[in-house]
Amino acid sequence: MSRLLEVEDLTVDIPLGEGVLHPVRGISFGVDQGETLCIVGESGCGKSLTSLAVMGLLPSRAIRTARRLTLGDTDLLTASPRLMADIRGNRMAMIFQEPMTSLNPAYTIGNQLEEALLQHRPVPRQAARERAVYLLEKVGITAAASRLGQYPHQLSGGLRQRVMIAMALMCGPELIIADEPTTALDVTIQAQILHLLADLQKEFRMGMILITHDLGIVARVAHRVSVMYAGQFVEQGSVREIFRNPLHPYTRGLLDCIPVPGKTPRGSHLGSIPGMVPSLVGDLHGCSFRARCGFARASCEADIALRPLGVERAYRCILSPEESARAAVAEAAS
Ligand SMILES: Nc1ncnc2c1ncn2[C@@H]1O[C@H](COP(=O)(O)OP(=O)(O)O)[C@@H](O)[C@H]1O
Ligand code: SF4
Ligand SMILES: [Mg+2]
Repeated sequence: MSRLLEVEDLTVDIPLGEGVLHPVRGISFGVDQGETLCIVGESGCGKSLTSLAVMGLLPSRAIRTARRLTLGDTDLLTASPRLMADIRGNRMAMIFQEPMTSLNPAYTIGNQLEEALLQHRPVPRQAARERAVYLLEKVGITAAASRLGQYPHQLSGGLRQRVMIAMALMCGPELIIADEPTTALDVTIQAQILHLLADLQKEFRMGMILITHDLGIVARVAHRVSVMYAGQFVEQGSVREIFRNPLHPYTRGLLDCIPVPGKTPRGSHLGSIPGMVPSLVGDLHGCSFRARCGFARASCEADIALRPLGVERAYRCILSPEESARAAVAEAAS
């Protein structure tokens, strides 16, 4: 599989009145063609700013730096605003949590879908219309042609999100970034939309970054996983490794928050990780999870490097893999 997106040492800094916020602190990852990378972490860990940094959509006062940020052969760090505008929606597209932030209430669904293609391709409107109908059907919308004249407010939340997915696919992008795309929807619809996204990703062989705070979702759709905490990746690996042998206490904390089929009794209380994500303003030192970690010791106050363990597997903790395994057993027994 060929590498589609390459991100090396990406940081985002946002100057604020009280100091500089460091929401993304030197993260590296890649996405292959036809692969789904899930970035998972609690709210406030820098996931959305990571995706906005890749898309070139950060707030204007934010400062982005990276050693490398490439989409195929295109260097996104040196791309002009004009080139970035052409790449967005065309070669890479984003699906946001709340479709109403991306759909314009004043225009029909048909008009917005067609424009998504016409902005980037010199095709007749009729061809854009046909593609809109084709994609609305693909995302499971019945009587697609008759929906073209409808306005966003005439659709349910689930249907709007399907329209957003169709819109993201209009130009046949190489990369899709879906930022918590189902969080605003009820549980049944969430599952439908996720399966739909996973099917489309396979069918169109797109690279996908799926951002979520829910490891249950990750288990169903990810190939690889990056666990993000306080602006850093604390663990990376294949979905199988992350679930079978989580090495970072934070990853295990997230895993404890999802029900295990056949093990977790219906209605039982699931764990949540005590404590909060620390402030990301000012100078940050040491393991950022230490205030919440049952294994913290003095040496955790020094900066902890990401510890590589073979191909695309790494974690950021002073505990060795053996100590981590023992820690996991101790946690399970407590
Ligand atoms: N435009 C902004 N200006 C200032 N701070 C921001 C802005 N956007 C996000 N933040 C802050 O950056 C941190 C990371 O945010 P975000 O990337 O949205 O996290 P996540 O998507 O993981 O919930 C949070 O502390 C958030 O409050
Ligand atoms: S480095 Fe220390 S505080 Fe951080 S997760 Fe590992 S044991 Fe816990
Ligand atoms: Mg977010």
